[in-house]
Amino acid sequence: AAMKKYDFNVQVKNVSRLCHSKPIVMVNGMFPGPTVFVREGDQLLVKVSNFAQYNISIHWHGLKQFRNGWSDGPAYITQCPIQTGQSYTYNITVMGQRGTLWWHAHISWLRATVYGTIVIMPKEGTPYPFPQPYQETNIILGEWWNQDVETMINQANQLGQAPQLSDAHTINGKPGPLFPCSEKYTFAMEVESSKTYLLRIINAAIDDDLFFAIAGHNMTVVEIDAVYTKPFTTEAILIAPGQTTNVLVKADQPPSRYFMATRPFMDAPVPVDNKTATAILQYKSIPNTVLPSLPLLPAPNDTKFFFNYNSKLKSLNTPQFPAKVPLKVDRHLFYTIGLGINPCPTCQNGTKIEASLNNITFVMPKVGLLQAHYFNIPGIFTTDFPDQPQAPFNYTGAPLTTNLATTSGTRLSKLAFNSTVELVLQDTNLISVESHPFHLHGFNFFVVGTGIGNFDPKNDPAKYNLVDPPERNTVGVPTGGWTAIRFRADNPGVWFMHCHLEVHTMWGLKMAFVVENGKTAEESVLPPPQDLPLC
Ligand code: C2O
Repeated sequence: AAMKKYDFNVQVKNVSRLCHSKPIVMVNGMFPGPTVFVREGDQLLVKVSNFAQYNISIHWHGLKQFRNGWSDGPAYITQCPIQTGQSYTYNITVMGQRGTLWWHAHISWLRATVYGTIVIMPKEGTPYPFPQPYQETNIILGEWWNQDVETMINQANQLGQAPQLSDAHTINGKPGPLFPCSEKYTFAMEVESSKTYLLRIINAAIDDDLFFAIAGHNMTVVEIDAVYTKPFTTEAILIAPGQTTNVLVKADQPPSRYFMATRPFMDAPVPVDNKTATAILQYKSIPNTVLPSLPLLPAPNDTKFFFNYNSKLKSLNTPQFPAKVPLKVDRHLFYTIGLGINPCPTCQNGTKIEASLNNITFVMPKVGLLQAHYFNIPGIFTTDFPDQPQAPFNYTGAPLTTNLATTSGTRLSKLAFNSTVELVLQDTNLISVESHPFHLHGFNFFVVGTGIGNFDPKNDPAKYNLVDPPERNTVGVPTGGWTAIRFRADNPGVWFMHCHLEVHTMWGLKMAFVVENGKTAEESVLPPPQDLPLC
């Protein structure tokens, strides 16, 4: 194992896209930001220095940080923000993971432009459990707004409604030639005939589940969220914000130029966003004048694809990479996901949209929750988050007009060290059904079941996959349906859980778990680092 050091200088620089130029926050002058390369077992030190006029914090999405929430990154959850002129060193030991993850800003909407890839190579001398690729490429899917993102959010908060859609989707920060002024902002990947490539695909979009496909070429999915899967071949993948997917692609088509393309999956009754970002897969020595063809992408509302594709995702589950699914559950949790309307005297219409879990809208604290927990600071949070909704209702019945209001608070749920937890996330029809990609910090979990409609506690558990369910850190809860996950609470600390659609997080679709210390020092939260930012 080695020590890998990175310097991340956060600064504001001008960037041009779609015939507009605007200042954006970025790392080391790069958009997307630098790729972090580590090997399983390495110690990773990233010194983040803030030269921008914005508070910042960086989250290492999916990197397990055993006992060490201090380096997890969500602002006001595990740390106070790194203020202008300050720096903070994230100190991460990479354990038991290999594959693709990513890092992003975790404060306000700064992750719109502050993000990059994390590549975790297997230990020296350990091959991939699939054919060795000739080359590897990162594909980060994102979004671009012509307007300043911060201004846009402030406006949305004023109006009490959703901010406007992005102006483009992007592949490695580039929209591709179907957008204005974007010829030169097109990502291209050169391939040689008959060679196999590994694509590390990340959805860094702010508010969109995305389809991704390559014209003429199949993809073989081999890993999701830095966990190996049973390989399967598909024409398109579906990837929710926060998720990563590694695929093998063989350059086995007539040498030419082919579009890679990405477009949102949206099956909820919301304005459909069908902007298509493209990049180019270019066979060696084919001239740029050859016009590429577009791949067929599933229709924006192809819910069938959602279920069909997700059902193919299975843990590799070999002796070397076993799926350690908790078979016995110590704690059953059932959370409803709702979008509701609350009074807002200062908003334009007197009301504003708020989001909730079990009808509780999470209120961000003014100090880091992990500090409050570690130092026993009273009055910052309570640990009375309910395990079940207060009053059960027909969650996915006809559009609900009652039960829209939420209560608010910084309410956490306390989990005993090493206990096993089952959490059923149930979408509801409060205002409207919508798909929600849920991300749990601090843990991977197993997705043991999913379905349409209301979760049936009598019959649905019998259909769970407890053998080789996909293991991940972010899962899509289907529109008007439910998803059941299981995990072992073996990582003491305070861990955030939220919808990875930034607009929903902003509206309060979030909460946190406090995992208690175990009996020994080795099972307890580490002491905070000296340079931990203060509020
Ligand atoms: Cu990728 Cu809490 O986020």
